[in-house]
Amino acid sequence: MKTKIGVLSAGGDCAGINSAIHWLVYSALDKDLVPLRGTMFKVLGIMDGWKGLIEVKPEKKTSLAQWTIDLNMDIVRTWDRYGGTRLGTSRINPFAPEDDKSDLILENCTKLGLDALVVIGGPNSLSVAYQLYKKGLRVVGIPKTIDRDLDATDYTLGFDSAVNTITQDIDRLRITAGSHSRIFVVECMGRSAGWLALEGGEASGAAIILIPEHDFVLERVIELLAMRRKDGDRYSIVLVSEGAKPRGMEPILERRGRDGFGHYYLGGVGGFIAEEIQKNDMEVRYMALRHLQRGGVPTAYDRRMGRKFGVASVDMIVGEDFGRMVSLKQGQVTSVPLKKALDKLKLVDVEKFYDTKNYKTLDQIV
Ligand code: F6P
Repeated sequence: MKTKIGVLSAGGDCAGINSAIHWLVYSALDKDLVPLRGTMFKVLGIMDGWKGLIEVKPEKKTSLAQWTIDLNMDIVRTWDRYGGTRLGTSRINPFAPEDDKSDLILENCTKLGLDALVVIGGPNSLSVAYQLYKKGLRVVGIPKTIDRDLDATDYTLGFDSAVNTITQDIDRLRITAGSHSRIFVVECMGRSAGWLALEGGEASGAAIILIPEHDFVLERVIELLAMRRKDGDRYSIVLVSEGAKPRGMEPILERRGRDGFGHYYLGGVGGFIAEEIQKNDMEVRYMALRHLQRGGVPTAYDRRMGRKFGVASVDMIVGEDFGRMVSLKQGQVTSVPLKKALDKLKLVDVEKFYDTKNYKTLDQIV
């Protein structure tokens, strides 16, 4: 018996995706496991996420070569050590009300002979996977997003690498901030979740951390900075999440328009804060880390988790655990229904983790 697995990555790229694909292929094509599994696997990589499944014309050889790739151990051998996604990605919503492509995707999956589809995605891409599952597609999800805002899992691929990048970048800024006795406002990503700011700020010793889950008061930020200066601190780092906003204001948007899932692009709150600080006679510089924090090589942790998630996705296909997502729970790899992971976003529990008076992480024993 032969089983054909399709695999795609969709939504924002991040470190760890390639590791998941590498280990998915290594596990699926492990000859020693064939007798135990009672089936031999083939793995078909789909290029550019949902776009590949929409654009591919399975009956045409050139189209197949453009949008799909037969994956084997030789091809993916070195992928685990690279960031981003070798399969490419896109932010297309196949269920867009004005242009619903979901039936075409189902048709193409059948024509490609896919028995199961592994979707490496964040909340948006996995919600597409879930809707396709409800329409009959046998899907398994692997969680990835630097925002770590997916519920029902303690980890999403890419988060650790992004936190490491934030930490290293702030280390660099601390050097120049210290030399010049300046304040640096650093803006990181995260959409409506403050995890990147909170943990990046913890790791890099940011003086002030601003997160979307708690609206800040600008006067208090300035007061805290002035207090630090009075106390003799040469410099201060303010790390602000792109979705954080001053009390009474709307989130600041980077540019007009929305992505395929209706989200506005966030960005610019750091620049706004820096201008306000400058008005108070403090020397300040602003830096938005933007996509720097999504690139770079995966950390050891992301490679390991990519490995565990990739292998688990094949085990789930063997066990016919469809409509579910690989999940890390208290250090153990398990699986959860996609629906459960998508019910709500996982946001920072302010009471547990955030000092709302001093705008920093709450360091306490629970
Ligand atoms: O969801 C991941 C993320 O990096 C967010 O933190 C950020 O708001 C968004 O993607 C940026 O999207 P794009 O890569 O499309 O500009």
